[in-house]
Amino acid sequence: MSTAVMPTYGRADIAFVRGEGAYLIAADGKRYLDFCAGIAVDALGHCHPRLVEVLSQQASRVWHTSNLYRIPAQERLAERLVANSFADMAFFCNSGAEAVEGGIKICRKFHSANGHPERWRILSFDGSFHGRTLATLAAAKNGNHLDGFGPASDGFDNLPFGNTNALRAAITEETAAILVEPIQGEGGIRPANPGFLKDVRAVADEFGLLVFYDEVQTGVGRTGKLWAYEWTDAVPDVMSIAKGLGSGFPIGAVLATTEAAKGMTPGTHGSTFGGNHLATTVADAVLETILEDGFLANVSAVSEVLRQQLEELCGRHPTVFKSVRGAGLMLGIECISLNLDLMSMAQEEGLLTVVAGENVLRLVPPLIIEEHHVEEAIEILNKVAERGALVND
Ligand SMILES: Cc1ncc(COP(=O)(O)O)c(C=O)c1O
Repeated sequence: MSTAVMPTYGRADIAFVRGEGAYLIAADGKRYLDFCAGIAVDALGHCHPRLVEVLSQQASRVWHTSNLYRIPAQERLAERLVANSFADMAFFCNSGAEAVEGGIKICRKFHSANGHPERWRILSFDGSFHGRTLATLAAAKNGNHLDGFGPASDGFDNLPFGNTNALRAAITEETAAILVEPIQGEGGIRPANPGFLKDVRAVADEFGLLVFYDEVQTGVGRTGKLWAYEWTDAVPDVMSIAKGLGSGFPIGAVLATTEAAKGMTPGTHGSTFGGNHLATTVADAVLETILEDGFLANVSAVSEVLRQQLEELCGRHPTVFKSVRGAGLMLGIECISLNLDLMSMAQEEGLLTVVAGENVLRLVPPLIIEEHHVEEAIEILNKVAERGALVND
């Protein structure tokens, strides 16, 4: 499989040519149930009729004009995000990493605007993932990702995830904010203990720090609530989102309160493509759909069925699967054997999944799945477990 594409990814040798709801169809005609969803991106599945309609309509009107001019769909989307979150305003960009970068800048500028430019360091946590740009790599401090790219950018102090004592001890006169994923995605579907998120909020308030949630993966309905922070009463000041927001159309955003974004005056940040007509038209339709009566209730209901059946599966195959973790449709099965490529086995059987840290098989299907999709996935995972158990013997 040699192509002119830079070989930075370990790709499966499959090319998909069509998508229909929760299914992908490969060039050879094979049909796959998609519980990867472009790594938790295709929130409304593939080729959702409403998204196809709004995207096609917008494509024949205007695509891109830059942020030198007003963009009506961007304004509508910002209003919808603000009306349905803690935030007062949104900045639009094109990816998760850019959204996190934007959030880092907001946090630093907040203290600078308050007369404390020396408060610029961000506290972050081990096992986190915030993207592949130099600052987001430095925040996560994953040695594998940093290797060979020179010293990690300064300004980030990485701490044990979930340890309030370590968090308090790490705060200095230079600390600006605490950056945390409510559920670590790439790190292995590791939920923060709700008590820890409350502690993060309390510690931040005590020391005048900002709380910055990275909801790039958990946001936009993925966990059964629109935002994962709604599972606790610990609300952030700044939040990065992306992935599900465009349901496959690239878009990211940073949300913030007016107070947190007080330093973000004209000229302080920008993006040529960020929030253009096409991206924001699609994202606004995604959000409108997810906010319709019953949509999130359905995500919760179907995710309960999936979780329960996965737990039963773990019980039936204790030599292959250990336990289930996560929330809503962001679930991980902790696997027993490090040597088994269960993801490839599932793929051979027609189910797409994605791995995560700590030997976890991640299930992040489109939010539109129904019970029959769950049954189909469980049947395949059962077959995979039977094959895995034979290999293990
Ligand atoms: C929590 C989190 N933050 C940031 C990112 C980076 O997003 P992107 O790959 O769109 O830059 C990801 C991607 O997996 C993520 O899960």
